[in-house]
Amino acid sequence: MTNQSIDSLLASLSLEQKAQLLVGGGNDGFAGSGAMLGHQKRLVAGAAGITVEIHEQAIPSIVMADGPAGVHIDPVRENVADTFYATGFPIGTALASTWNTALVEQVGQAIGNETREYGCDIILGPGMNIHRNPLCGRNFEYYSEDPILTGKIGAAMVRGIQSQGVGACPKHYAVNSQESDRTKVDERLSAKALREIYLRGFEIMVREAQPWTIMSSYNQINGQFVQQSYDALTTILRREWGFNGVVVTDWIGVRDTKAQVHAGNDLMMPGYPQQVQDIITAVNNGTLSIADVDTCVRRVLQLIIRTPRYNHYTYSDQPDLAAHAVITRQSATEGMVLLKNLGDTLPLRSQIRTIALFGVNSYDFASGGLGSGCVNTPYVVDMVAGLRNAGIATTPRITDIYQSYIPFATKKLRADKDPLMWFLDQGQPKLPELEISDRLIETEVTQADAAIITLGRQAGEGMDRTIEDDFNLTADEHQLIRRVSEIFRRERKPVIVIINSGSVIETASWQAYADAILVAWQPGEEGGNSVADILTGKVNPSGKLTMTWPIACSDHPSTRNFPQPMSLYDYKERQNWGTPIQFVHYTDHAEGTQVGYRYFNPNERPVAYPFGFGLSYTTFEYSRPSAKLQGDEVILSVTVRNTGSRSGKEVVQVYMGHELKAFAKTHELQPGESETLTMRVPIRLLASFDEPNSQWLLPADEYTFAFAASSRDIRLTKKIRLKQYTEPVNPVLLPK
Ligand code: GLC
Repeated sequence: MTNQSIDSLLASLSLEQKAQLLVGGGNDGFAGSGAMLGHQKRLVAGAAGITVEIHEQAIPSIVMADGPAGVHIDPVRENVADTFYATGFPIGTALASTWNTALVEQVGQAIGNETREYGCDIILGPGMNIHRNPLCGRNFEYYSEDPILTGKIGAAMVRGIQSQGVGACPKHYAVNSQESDRTKVDERLSAKALREIYLRGFEIMVREAQPWTIMSSYNQINGQFVQQSYDALTTILRREWGFNGVVVTDWIGVRDTKAQVHAGNDLMMPGYPQQVQDIITAVNNGTLSIADVDTCVRRVLQLIIRTPRYNHYTYSDQPDLAAHAVITRQSATEGMVLLKNLGDTLPLRSQIRTIALFGVNSYDFASGGLGSGCVNTPYVVDMVAGLRNAGIATTPRITDIYQSYIPFATKKLRADKDPLMWFLDQGQPKLPELEISDRLIETEVTQADAAIITLGRQAGEGMDRTIEDDFNLTADEHQLIRRVSEIFRRERKPVIVIINSGSVIETASWQAYADAILVAWQPGEEGGNSVADILTGKVNPSGKLTMTWPIACSDHPSTRNFPQPMSLYDYKERQNWGTPIQFVHYTDHAEGTQVGYRYFNPNERPVAYPFGFGLSYTTFEYSRPSAKLQGDEVILSVTVRNTGSRSGKEVVQVYMGHELKAFAKTHELQPGESETLTMRVPIRLLASFDEPNSQWLLPADEYTFAFAASSRDIRLTKKIRLKQYTEPVNPVLLPK
């Protein structure tokens, strides 16, 4: 359909029909807030939301399903024999930890394919908010503390998804880096922090990948609700960045509908009849111009006509899950980060044939996080199965004890669950650790060649993490690591710790007890196999951290201003008492741009593991650094040679003034093999935000580019003179 025919279609619509097109199809009576978490039964059971069909003009409903780690729909349907499981891909942080945009694009293609083949038109992902602080409950869905990495990985994911003829919906635009009080909180921050840290990733993604839609976040920015902020949705997003898609609200009730339409928020989801009426009333009483309504309706029509459903695509309901399982396993393996490998404990020696597997998550391996970001996967490969598939047995006694405990603990947790914690139903909640006696460990050490302890963490939508017993280990976990280490090391048997978490945890207090530490993240349905790929050396680890791992959570400057969420117990107690939970309805970003390594590195603060860090089973040498100006880009290149005895991939990071400006990953280099990596960096991305003049500014000067294996492992540098660059932007969304 041409734009001209869209205009004629638009002209044929009544005000009522126009208003209906701007408001989602609602939910199927889900008692909570909106259609959250798949309460659509009408078109694709379990999808998050639909738009409204305008039958007279042959405008169909289109279907939106959650992501970002896979298509979130009901796996079974009433009176239907077929099943509708979707592939569980690695969480966002794990994908970003690959630093491999080509691989992430491939994952996006698979997710886009499943979106289309299950009859959906939009996937509500990727999640792209900044890891401001380890305590954010949804860090697992997001990529990094760094905006460049976030933007590049997000753009790759959007390209992948949309290559399949469906739309992505990157979220949550913007500054939605906490779950506490998320629908009201006013995120108060400087223009510099807003532009350089919290918007930059979205900007890179929009400019490079043009998503069909983008999701406006619940929160306020400097006193403006994003979902009705003309500054955020039209001035910045559209006029400055050139976004030409549809803005979809995050799933929320009735707000100031006319202000949302005027601001350029095209689609109110999940949608309530009141919102339709609000639009009609506002146009009729002159408080909302029909021109604003038409602008949004035109964009919604332009979206609808690109969807498979509008184009009568016959979806199969049978995506190639086997092929996608291969992709999820490869991407999970490549995102795992090896933090410690004392005396080359890994890869496991061939004589290690039996392992004592400790930790409840070894057996209840978390493939993903909680809330709308979880996926109903056909299976999850846990550590027992992963090791077994690699020819390694686990000691029978402790395996049996844990496997008997898990169903019981799961049932008890769900029985105790507070109805308020609806999101705990979505995904695998974290089970309490089992107390293991010394006597049992003494038995196990006689039957095992090594010990593995899995430390699991779970988090998700609607709730932030706590420092105690979450970021920090529990007393039981400390005890377990210490005792297993003492007993197994006494017998000269290695102890390996696997971190099965969606975000950072404390490591400094216990890492000495482990011979090797591998961050497996929440790696999707093939998780156990991916861990085994690394442990056995089938794959050489090449993941690198996308967030600084601090020694203490309070080392992050943002922790003092992060809403200290109460424990689940307190939260439930306070709710039961009927005591309103008093949130401070704003977050003061006093740290400004000092987020993550931007604070730790220039201030030379000690950390557990720095941004960009990750070990390999081989070594790499860098040579021939180059930085050349070509038009409005700097072309960076460096040669990497595998100087070790195993093949492997290397991620090269390029920093300028302590800030990541570019990165690239080699292919699998054989021992002795070299590859020259070339990175093109637009000058505009080298600029800093000059607040007084509301402009991006790169002063004319000589600049040093550092070619690094991590943000604290600089291998080579290269200087280049650059002339001044300025780019004015609108002075909007400023702190009050
Ligand atoms: C939730 C989440 C959003 C999700 C939407 C639909 O509130 O914030 O990420 O896509 O609702 O489930």
